[in-house]
Amino acid sequence: MDDYKLLIDLHKEGHRQGPGGDAETELALNLAMIDRAEPLKIADIGCGTGASTILLARFLNARITAVDFLQDFLDVLEQRAESTGMAEKISPLARSMDDLPFADEELDVIWSEGAIYNIGFENGVANWRRYLKAGGLLVASEITWLTDSRPTELQNHWDNEYPEIDVASAKIRVLEKHGYSPIGYFVLPERCWMDQYYRPMQARFEDFLNRNGNSEEARTIVAAEQREIELYERYKAHISYGVYIAKKTE
Ligand SMILES: C[S@@+](CC[C@H](N)C(=O)[O-])C[C@H]1O[C@@H](n2cnc3c(N)ncnc32)[C@H](O)[C@@H]1O
Repeated sequence: MDDYKLLIDLHKEGHRQGPGGDAETELALNLAMIDRAEPLKIADIGCGTGASTILLARFLNARITAVDFLQDFLDVLEQRAESTGMAEKISPLARSMDDLPFADEELDVIWSEGAIYNIGFENGVANWRRYLKAGGLLVASEITWLTDSRPTELQNHWDNEYPEIDVASAKIRVLEKHGYSPIGYFVLPERCWMDQYYRPMQARFEDFLNRNGNSEEARTIVAAEQREIELYERYKAHISYGVYIAKKTE
């Protein structure tokens, strides 16, 4: 089994594939001041197994295209949409986020939790803008420094993983530079990392290793996740996801 398949195997049973929470998705919805009765067209980009997609379907009068490039995650999303009675509102789309099929000004809302970093925050906000109607909304969570200077170990780790990581004021500046007016920002609290993402993942490690014959590749993946968890626990005062809510300007 290659590393990619192993990563899918580890993550597809998770409620989420990154830090986040249902209460925080709803908070973002409230800060976006979206009219819950108005018919809307939404894309949830990098949706994973669809935790946010299903909430958006539940709370809004919306048609949602759930985009992810991993069909295995979309298969789980489809099952969840069926079992929650939300399937009619959701269209899964296996596609890369840098090659989206939407028409210019087609969408009312672009939603993306813990995923835009895959093409880089600035690239994503700049390129996705054209799909939004004037006044349309972008809601995206992005790894963010909470402090102006950081311990060297943490700085080095993230400079290597994602050099675009920055403080919130810099992310907001990127939004302004690319034709958005920021209307809300908040930081994901610790429970979104530990209780809703890392601990459920740790609880799956043993089965994951057994299923995969305790292979070296599987052990390497678990060790990398453990290192990330330890780094987060040690340095959580300095880092989280910021949730950015912004309106497309004219
Ligand atoms: C950290 S997970 C977040 C998933 C989900 N939004 C959540 O919060 O649970 C990032 C997701 O982005 C997807 N992804 C990564 N690169 C992508 C790309 N180029 N196009 C589409 N999806 C991508 C992954 O498959 C994964 O589901």
